[in-house]
Amino acid sequence: MPADAVNLRDFESHAQAKLPEAHWAYLHGSAGDGDTASANQQAWQDLRLWPRVLNDLRIAASLNTACTVAGRAMAHPLFLAPVAYQQLAHPDGETATGLAAAAQGAGMVLSSQSSTPMEAVASIFAAEADAGPLWFQLYWQGDLARSLALVQRAQACGFQAVVLTVDAPVHGVRDAERRAGFVLPEGIRAVNLPATAPVPQSLAGLLAQAVRWDDVAELQAACAGLGLPLWLKGVLHPADAARAAALGVAGIIVSNHGGRTLDTAVSTAWALPQVRAAVPSDWPILVDGGIRRGTDVFKALALGADAVLIGRPQVHALACDGALGVARMIRLLRDEFAACLALCGCATVADIHSGHWVARDRHNHSP
Ligand code: GLV
Repeated sequence: MPADAVNLRDFESHAQAKLPEAHWAYLHGSAGDGDTASANQQAWQDLRLWPRVLNDLRIAASLNTACTVAGRAMAHPLFLAPVAYQQLAHPDGETATGLAAAAQGAGMVLSSQSSTPMEAVASIFAAEADAGPLWFQLYWQGDLARSLALVQRAQACGFQAVVLTVDAPVHGVRDAERRAGFVLPEGIRAVNLPATAPVPQSLAGLLAQAVRWDDVAELQAACAGLGLPLWLKGVLHPADAARAAALGVAGIIVSNHGGRTLDTAVSTAWALPQVRAAVPSDWPILVDGGIRRGTDVFKALALGADAVLIGRPQVHALACDGALGVARMIRLLRDEFAACLALCGCATVADIHSGHWVARDRHNHSP
């Protein structure tokens, strides 16, 4: 653990110093010029908070961050985002992030490209009474049968929802990865995927296998049959969000893949309120991308999200100090969020609303 880490950004430089250059290039890298990755962070900064004062804030301190996400009570609205091949960051990989998330009551979305067997992570969650939700991220496996085989295996070991990633029909154009000549090292691979799964080598092959709305409808029906909620991750446009809601999926994650797929795509903080306005007001929406501060978490909820996911800071903390690092990262963010709630005059998460923020542009001009 970096002794001086008092916030999420503090883990970053320590992680970079610790990791081999090629691992860092893959884990931390962005698409193109990194414009969307930095715009994500900037967009949260560009919102000014508009606090209220003198409200009655008396509530047990540990309860003020409590919330409900898709009907499930949580201690706070923080999830670990799906991140592939976590053993690149630390030998304990997804075992460490699973332990940290379960102990801290955070939700976890395990990548289908996990370098740890899904059953091992599920058993960590099963052993922790206060664990948050455990969901399985799915990359479409080319057809329904192969995709469902993974889903059924995940459900059998205890995963409670499926998160289908829809924003990456092809790999982003990642300069750092290519410069570093990144390839998976010996011994690290996507252990939950069949070693024999055909991976298309050409662009045409990838596009032929890319997931489409018809596939989502079929997968949705199959998941409903299993009693398993299906979420879509990587939605930015209100029209796509409305279509997903009409299809009956459980919810969406407003995401641009941390700026790792399409560079110059809109920031998630910009898209979120427009997406929120396009779907039923109680339909669950999560958001990720550039969240580094408790104030960012607060703003995400004020813009209409039910919870947030944390991507890169999870990897940085994992690289620094395994499970302890990730647990500390979650705790720091939760504590910052709790402070922000109080300072904005909110006794509970339910008190956060759209009147608590104002866009910086509007703020810089007289009303
Ligand atoms: C995988 O989802 C990646 O962003 O590398």
